[in-house]
Amino acid sequence: MNTFDAIQKHYNAAGVHPTTDPDNPRSQFAVERYEDYLPKLIKPSMRALDLGCNAGRFTFAMEEMGAIATGIDFAEIPLRHAKKVAQKRKSRCQFNIGDITALPYKENAFDLALLPENNVYLSYQALENLTVQLKRILSDNGLFVVIIHDGLVKRAGEETLPERYDVQTGLIGGIRAIPDKGVYANPTYFWTIAFTRYIIEKHLPLEKVEQIEENRFMLVFRNQNG
Ligand SMILES: C[S@@+](CC[C@H](N)C(=O)[O-])C[C@H]1O[C@@H](n2cnc3c(N)ncnc32)[C@H](O)[C@@H]1O
Repeated sequence: MNTFDAIQKHYNAAGVHPTTDPDNPRSQFAVERYEDYLPKLIKPSMRALDLGCNAGRFTFAMEEMGAIATGIDFAEIPLRHAKKVAQKRKSRCQFNIGDITALPYKENAFDLALLPENNVYLSYQALENLTVQLKRILSDNGLFVVIIHDGLVKRAGEETLPERYDVQTGLIGGIRAIPDKGVYANPTYFWTIAFTRYIIEKHLPLEKVEQIEENRFMLVFRNQNG
């Protein structure tokens, strides 16, 4: 099974959990971490895209901050839940099924794209491809906001890492037990802050870096077509 299929299968099996369900207050910790940062980037009626939205907690949060928000994810089960929550709340959020490395959007469709810690599911080439697509999909002066941690800082000393790490691709094999469902492959890629910056800056200039926590950073890139 390739990485793409394994990640999709994993998130469909994981489904929706109290800690990821936007309808459950227990899921909000993930958004609250950025309450001093994200609202400052969202302007009223800005068109915002949540890349890898799962059940939509960041999509709904961006709508609450004033954006016209869209979420995209390739896992159908959490996305279906996001649509139900939107209906129940009479939210204007849109949810699209799709691959974030092959975005189904036209030129100038969004003013901001948010990648909240989902870069670990992207290969190095895939993040570069995504960035190149965003140059076209984002409006002039549109923002690409990437929230990441540094893999080296996080994983230094992890004993089993060397045997799970593929030096040729940066892919780290992993498995996760999902209660009542079984054991699923959970492959991720090894990323550092410097390498993420290097890849995206080849195409979009970096505007600022916010350090949210000791090892959690928000990188803001601006699209400048002019
Ligand atoms: C850790 S979850 C984060 C979800 C969401 N940001 C949140 O905080 O609830 C990662 C999500 O990215 C999605 N994802 C990973 N790779 C993807 C891809 N290539 N295309 C679309 N979605 C993807 C997964 O299906 C999963 O829902």
